[in-house]
This record gives sequence, structure tokens and C-alpha cells, in this order.
Amino acid sequence: MALLPDITAFYGAGDEAARLTSGRTIGTLELVRTQELLRRHLPAPPADILDVGGGPGVHARWLTDDGYRVTVVDPVEQHVRQARDHGLTAFVGDARQLDQEDASFDAVLLLGPLYHLPDSPERARAWREARRTVRPGGLVAAAALNRFARLLDPGAGSALDVAETGLRTRRNGPTTYYHGLAELREEAREAGLTNPAVHGVQGPAYAALKAQERHTGMRDLGPQALEGALAVARFADSRPELALTSMHLLALACRTPA
Ligand SMILES: C[S@@+](CC[C@H](N)C(=O)[O-])C[C@H]1O[C@@H](n2cnc3c(N)ncnc32)[C@H](O)[C@@H]1O
Repeated sequence: MALLPDITAFYGAGDEAARLTSGRTIGTLELVRTQELLRRHLPAPPADILDVGGGPGVHARWLTDDGYRVTVVDPVEQHVRQARDHGLTAFVGDARQLDQEDASFDAVLLLGPLYHLPDSPERARAWREARRTVRPGGLVAAAALNRFARLLDPGAGSALDVAETGLRTRRNGPTTYYHGLAELREEAREAGLTNPAVHGVQGPAYAALKAQERHTGMRDLGPQALEGALAVARFADSRPELALTSMHLLALACRTPA
């Protein structure tokens, strides 16, 4: 199943492995918040997790350390090689047509594929594959980019840019899709998953951190900045209307128990 060529080129040229682990404050914020949201909702280890779009295995590594049996699937061969170099079980594959068997995992993660599937029927295939491969009662966790993300980081492009391209899809750079909050929940429901809940990942301090980074040229903004951002992100978790202050949204939904 073919990926859009700009996506293969983007990940082939970049260093996805370093995005969350190089000490950059906004990367650490995303990693820590993703960890705490997943740890709160995943079944207790040991359990089988399918990490679809798992890239070089950044999440698969800490999940393995937590005691889970993790399988990574990613369409970019370089990512699969990097994941295997870390001793992970990893295969080349596509979220829209997985090789894994029906109901073979306790949880399925889609932390990335939905960013790069701009067409609704393609995203629906990825959701349905997640539902098919997760066991009854299991969890599907899917990350999406917030439709308003580019308004949180106006330094990344001019206002004209936003007006010209609209907020749903960006095609300069790797093709990227930005979800509405209700739309993300609806996609989970349409795939037959129940009780979808959407959390903001980075929380309301994200925009300030980006501005500080841009202003100072520093990527590591120090422990105080990180702790402050984590504190407001945790607070925002109790206020669903604040989810849209985050760059990333995380949808958590279940397959109905048998
Ligand atoms: C931003 S990276 C996220 C990697 C990792 N899951 C994380 O959260 O750090 C997006 C990942 O989605 C993968 N991806 C893109 N299109 C995909 C598709 N159709 N099926 C599965 N994975 C895909 C990319 O290769 C890349 O590894």
C-alpha cells in the first residue's frame, strides 16, 4: 500500500528517533504526557500492544521496559530498522491494511498514522484495522493533530499562509491532516469503538514554550519550564474544553467486550 511520496521523503531525511528524546522541552512534554495518559488507560502489563506508526520505537521502548510485549509496525523501512536495532519486534506495514490477525492485541496504538492520512476514507480504514486487531474489551489510542495547531504557533507561517491553505490539511512539507475534536471522536465511533474520550496532550503552555524557543533559540528551556507546562497540562485534563490548547489530541476508545 503506497504512502504519499512526500511522507516517505520527509521521514527518510529526518531524525524521528530524536524528536521526543533529544532533551528539547516541547519533545519531552509530548513524551511525558503521552506516557502518563497511556499508563493511566492501558491494561496492566504484561499485555500485547500493537504500535502502528510506531516509527523508530520511542514509545515501544518504554512500554517494553514497563513489561508489555510490543509489536511495532511502520511503513518507513528506516524506522523499522532503527526499532529492530533497539531489540524491538518491528515490521514494515501500513495502518490501512495490517498483516496482524483479528483480535490479537490488548491495545492498539495509532500515534502518527492519522496525521498523514488526509482523506477521510483512508483514516476510516486505519481506525477499522485498529478495531479489527484489538481484542474485545481492548483499548485503541489514536493521536491526531489539533485543527487549530497552527494558530498556536503563528511564528511557523504567516497569517496569509493559514488563510490560503485552510486549517484542515497542509501540503507544504509532509502532507498533514488536522482533526477537529468532535470529528476525532466521531471517527472512533464510526469504526465501532465505544466511549471515545479525547485528551489534550501538551496542554495550554505549549504556545508559550514555542514562542520562548523561537525567541531564545534554545531548545532545552530548563526544568522549571517543563514542570510548569506539565502542571498546566495535567490541570487542563480535568477541563475538556481546554483540549484544543494542545498541539496533539489523544483519543482513547474501547472495543466492546465480547
Ligand atoms: C510523527 S511520527 C510518530 C512516531 C511515533 N509513533 C511517535 O509518536 O513518536 C508518525 C509516524 O507515522 C508513520 N506513518 C505515516 N503514515 C502511515 C501509515 N499509513 N500507516 C502507518 N504508519 C504511518 C510514519 O512513518 C511515522 O513513523
